[in-house]
Parts: sequence; C-alpha cells; structure tokens
Amino acid sequence: MAQNPLLFCGNSNPELAEEIAKRLHLHVGKAEVSEFKNEETRVEIGENVRGSEVFVIQSICRAPNGKGVNDAVMELLLMIDALRRASAARITAVIPYYGYAKQDKKTKGREPISAKVIANILKVAGARRIVTMDLHAAQIQGFFDIPVDNLVAMPVLCNYLKKEGLCDDKIVVVSPDAGGVHRAELFAKRLNSSLAIVFKRRPVPDVAEVTDIVGDVKGRVAVVVDDMISTGGTLAKAAEAIKGRGATRVYTVATHGIFAADAVEVLEKSEIERVLFTNTIPFRNGTQHPKFVQLSIAQIFADAILRITTNRSVSELFEGEALADALVGAPPEALAPV
Ligand code: R5P
Repeated sequence: MAQNPLLFCGNSNPELAEEIAKRLHLHVGKAEVSEFKNEETRVEIGENVRGSEVFVIQSICRAPNGKGVNDAVMELLLMIDALRRASAARITAVIPYYGYAKQDKKTKGREPISAKVIANILKVAGARRIVTMDLHAAQIQGFFDIPVDNLVAMPVLCNYLKKEGLCDDKIVVVSPDAGGVHRAELFAKRLNSSLAIVFKRRPVPDVAEVTDIVGDVKGRVAVVVDDMISTGGTLAKAAEAIKGRGATRVYTVATHGIFAADAVEVLEKSEIERVLFTNTIPFRNGTQHPKFVQLSIAQIFADAILRITTNRSVSELFEGEALADALVGAPPEALAPV
C-alpha cells in the first residue's frame, strides 16, 4: 500500500476539499492562505510534506470569503511553489472547475488564449499532474505536457435524473448550442433518449440569442445539458425557445454553477423548472431557492485521488454505467483507507 497522500486547499472551495478528504478518511492539511496588508497573497504550509504525494484542491472561481477568480489562481500557484520548495515528491493540482477556459482559441485578432496561459503557469509553478472535471473544451488537455485527468460529472447528474424518472422516451436531451452536441449525445445515450439541438449566437460577449432548434421537443420534458452556467442567459433563452416549440417542462443540468452577476434571478424568472449543478464551485445562494439543486461530485474526486495514489486506472472509473453509478452512490465507508 502506498504512503497516504497529503491534501491541501486554498480558499476557493474548502467545503468540497473537506468532503473529499472525509471520503478518503484523511484530513485537509494545515496551510495558511491569506493576504499581506498590501493585498498580495500569503501562503505558509503548516505540515511536513517532504517526499510525499500531495494534492492541492482549488477551483478557479470566486471564493465564499469574497476573494475573486484571480486570487484563486494566485493561491494555487503559490501553494504549489511552497510545496515544491518543501520537497514534496509529486504535486497534483486538483482543479474541480478550470476557470479561464472559455478563451481556448483566438476567435479574432489580438485576443489571448487564456486557458493556455493558465496551463503554462501551473506547470512552471511545479504541478506534475492535473485532475479536473468537464473542461470547457476537452482539447485544453493538450495545453499541458503533464498528465491531465478530465473527470466527468455525468454519472452524478444522470443518477439524479433517473431517480426522478427523467429518462427514456419521456424526455428529450437538448444541447443549448452547437459546441455542446457531443456532451448532450453522451447524456442522451446514457438516459436512452432522443436528442435536439438549439443554435445560439452571441451578438456581444455574455449575451445569448437563439437562432434555431433542430429535433422534436413537442410533448416531452426537455433536459438541457451544458458544461457551465455563467450569466444563465444560454439556458434561460434555450428554455424559452424549447417551451415555445411545445416541450411540457424544462430541466437543465450543468457541471459548473458559476452564477455570475444576476444569473440566479435570471434563472428563477425563466421557464426552467429545476436547475441542477454540482459543487465544483460553491453555491453562494444556499438553499433559499427550491428550483436550484446542487449535487456532490466529491466521491468521484476522492476515488480518482485514491486511484492515482495507488497507480490504478482513473478512466476505469467511468467504464460501464454500473461501476460509475455504484461509485456515485457509495458511502464514504465504502472506500478503503489509503
Ligand atoms: C458555452 O460555450 C458554454 O458551454 C456555456 O453555454 C456558456 O458558457 C454559458 O454561459 P451563460 O450562462 O453566460 O450563457
């Protein structure tokens, strides 16, 4: 049996880090991640890490303590640097939500490729492996020359839908844009349902407009599948259009709930009956909104960490629905202590 891994986290998603640690029968290591008075990030690792396998859990998102996305990046980089200089044997950056992913290519002149910049600085800081979930574009894996495990939340989301009886010919899975068709196809296959596609355009950044719908949604419950909810515009507009074409109800599922600006209000007022998302990003609005359902993906990360530590296959986690469903439902005790 390999030596126990050490887990650390920054401020962006400490609750998820605690949950992952609990499922592994471990604790989150001591680390001071705060700020100097001049607003620079300050990091001090409070435990010996020499020769250890270390995982730093940090989503690239706004933190519950109010710190912004850029602080999350800086905390992650400085933690990795501190751990490397403290002689950790291998440092894995566990990034449940990989932010800065939307700009993964130049769409016009004089734009950055932000997803690549983040990949470069993580590598330079000392990350030797990345574990993330539902990257905005799978090809971002290629921005790294180190191993990247791109986990998927689909088993958790589909489990919920199946338990609600939302599968087979009662539903139609809908992609809210052309870029999401592959993801929606995978959901449709797993839920044994048909597929429809909404075509969207963005006249200006962060504004979505529906141009067309391909596929039959009439008389069915539509389940719109996306990777992330930012302003909520994509899902709200898709729901309106789908309802207009005769869908009876609209559910939406997305891995990452960013809920930027007034997204919660936009979705509350929309035609959507229920908004499902995971805890890759903390949900600031708590349980005040019955329409919003947050599901935990901690078990998937815990199992991936266990498999990495013990040199077992990570992709096996997602091979076969039975295995994935069993893992999603497994209580913490079901995992062997490392
Ligand atoms: C777009 O390519 C993404 O998959 C999402 O559809 C988009 O990021 C959602 O953004 P918003 O909620 O601001 O419409």
